[in-house]
Amino acid sequence: MTAQRTDTIRWVGDLDGRCRLVEQTLLPGEFKEIDCETQEDMWDAIKRLAVRGAPAIGVAAAFGTVLGVRNSGATDAAGFLDDLKATTEYLASSRPTAVNLFWGLDRMTRVARAAGDVPVAQLKERLLQESKTIWEEDRDICRRLGKHGAALLGEGENALTHCNAGGLATADYGTALAVFFAAHEQGKQFAVFADETRPLNQGSRLTAWELQNAGIPVTLICDNMAGQVMKEGRIQKVFVGADRIAANGDAANKIGTYSVSVLAKHHGVPFYVVAPTSTFDMATPDGAGIPIEQRDPEEIRRGYSGGLNAPADVDVYNPAFDVTPHEHIAGIVTEFGVIERPDTERVREHFRRHGLLADE
Ligand code: MRU
Repeated sequence: MTAQRTDTIRWVGDLDGRCRLVEQTLLPGEFKEIDCETQEDMWDAIKRLAVRGAPAIGVAAAFGTVLGVRNSGATDAAGFLDDLKATTEYLASSRPTAVNLFWGLDRMTRVARAAGDVPVAQLKERLLQESKTIWEEDRDICRRLGKHGAALLGEGENALTHCNAGGLATADYGTALAVFFAAHEQGKQFAVFADETRPLNQGSRLTAWELQNAGIPVTLICDNMAGQVMKEGRIQKVFVGADRIAANGDAANKIGTYSVSVLAKHHGVPFYVVAPTSTFDMATPDGAGIPIEQRDPEEIRRGYSGGLNAPADVDVYNPAFDVTPHEHIAGIVTEFGVIERPDTERVREHFRRHGLLADE
């Protein structure tokens, strides 16, 4: 299909409007947008990956909150906060790993609480405004990620990426793919290898599509080819996104990322994680505490296209994410810069320097 860019997710209209998002399950074969009008629509869109990728899920959480409470019949702020709690708890049950979901829901709750004892109509407008701010901030943050990350990609180098951490995984521009978009805009010559990313093929369906549309040279490989491609000396850097980063820098990302990090370590290829600070979970000391989503066995038995891939009743284990230990990570790129060789102290120092530690 032809290159087609629009907002991955956005709010249309006023408080009685809707959240419009790209139906990512159909890409790249069909480009279609869908409207979410209720919190149930949004829960479903997140669950089945119509909207996906940690930062985009954070934005979806904010818009979903508005959808959930805009028709609240509460007559005072206390009653409204009860309705808000019910909505955020409901949306929080959609997917467990990407911390941006919980970050978005918490931020909406904090804003409503901080507004104090004001009329309910005012609270609803305040939440709509906050959701739009979160959307706008994400767009800005992704461009900053791209700028910091592009400095790490040398002229003439090849990079490997896994899953999709592009414009489709954020409000716009991406995290790991922002590095490539920014380097391309700077006129750098480089090429990207994209892992297919079984079982849902975010790499082949979404990353290859986004990079091709941007005119960036991209070569698709199956996940099990990354080792061979590194051994042939074709990869100089790895850039991936993250769904949740623990306080010591251990980073959860799409299943298969850990294997890539092991291969990169073995072959001496620097491995970078690119993520906004909203993807850090400072309350979780290390990767062992990150919840890993388990998904429907049919995703593996049937594969993405729906045809039978395996005996229909074969046992399946389908963790959607894995955790890359911080020792494998050369640097984490945030909107503020690069945390080199991340560990608990360096992550904390980065947060302290940028005024992000609540307790200091
Ligand atoms: O299951 P998905 O498609 O939501 O998983 C997405 C990823 O793992 C991305 O790499 C991650 O969210 C970073 S997105 C900028």
